[in-house]
Amino acid sequence: MTDRYAVFGNPVEHSLSPRIHSAFALQTGENLSYEAIRVPHGGFAYSVSSFSASGGRGANVTVPFKEAACSLCSEMSEAAVVAGAVNTLSFIPPGIVRGDNTDGIGLIRDLTKNLKCLLTGQRVLLLGAGGAARGVILPLLEQRPARLHIANRTAPKGLFLREEFAAHTPNPAILTAGPLRELGRISGGFDIVINATSAELDGEALELPQGVFATEALAYDMSYGVEETAFLSQARTLGAARCCDGLGMLTEQAAESFLIWRGVRPDTAPVLTLLKTELDLMRRNRAAASRRTP
Ligand code: ATR
Repeated sequence: MTDRYAVFGNPVEHSLSPRIHSAFALQTGENLSYEAIRVPHGGFAYSVSSFSASGGRGANVTVPFKEAACSLCSEMSEAAVVAGAVNTLSFIPPGIVRGDNTDGIGLIRDLTKNLKCLLTGQRVLLLGAGGAARGVILPLLEQRPARLHIANRTAPKGLFLREEFAAHTPNPAILTAGPLRELGRISGGFDIVINATSAELDGEALELPQGVFATEALAYDMSYGVEETAFLSQARTLGAARCCDGLGMLTEQAAESFLIWRGVRPDTAPVLTLLKTELDLMRRNRAAASRRTP
């Protein structure tokens, strides 16, 4: 029997999750299928319950349903409760729906394991205060940075997160928040700058001041794409020494979901190499096609 899994989202057509989970299944010898399911507006609960009723064993949840997924769960992990968002559902007979959130651990594993970037003692800037930012605050604090500053366009949202998460750290003074437009007032810059905003989706640029990147700083975009993201291009211009997109985070959060479902942790390194090679090929093909187009 092949066990069925899926990712639910809208849009979801370009999701790399089916590719990643198929590669994990092949590597580990697990007998499963994984598909992308586009959820019509207002149809999330129905789509998920139809899938589980027809034998689905588990699912990933992506934009814009991660918060809505909480209300489908009969039990939730601490990470999901704190994040207020679920990206991994497990359907456990008889009728249990368990919700997890693997985004935070995915980010930390990509930063520390793949990119060999130590967070302890570093000045970290988190851009954004929406669902994506919320899911990574606690895992970042657990790495004991010297400072974690949340900068958001709408200042009160960042301050609200600061108040909420300060209670979760033994040293609340390291967690600060402020408006994005006032980042220029913070001297010294940041060692790690993580973009958790959705500005890219709207085709908008972030208002980032000169000096926001300290010497040798890493710019990390939780988004990824065939082309370099607008944030990473901006970061390069502003002097970031290293620029990394969220492909590694995507692969690592998928591996955590796979572990939850199958009890086996896949080796992410060969899968990440494969994805990078495929995206690189797509980039070159696009460049070649645009050179041919008069
Ligand atoms: P997600 O679940 O992807 O985090 P979200 O909850 O809608 O989506 O949050 C989007 C985040 O991106 C918010 O922090 C938003 O800032 P506001 O709170 O001010 O809306 C941020 N964002 C989106 N577009 C932006 C832009 N052009 N400049 C700065 N921040 C932006």
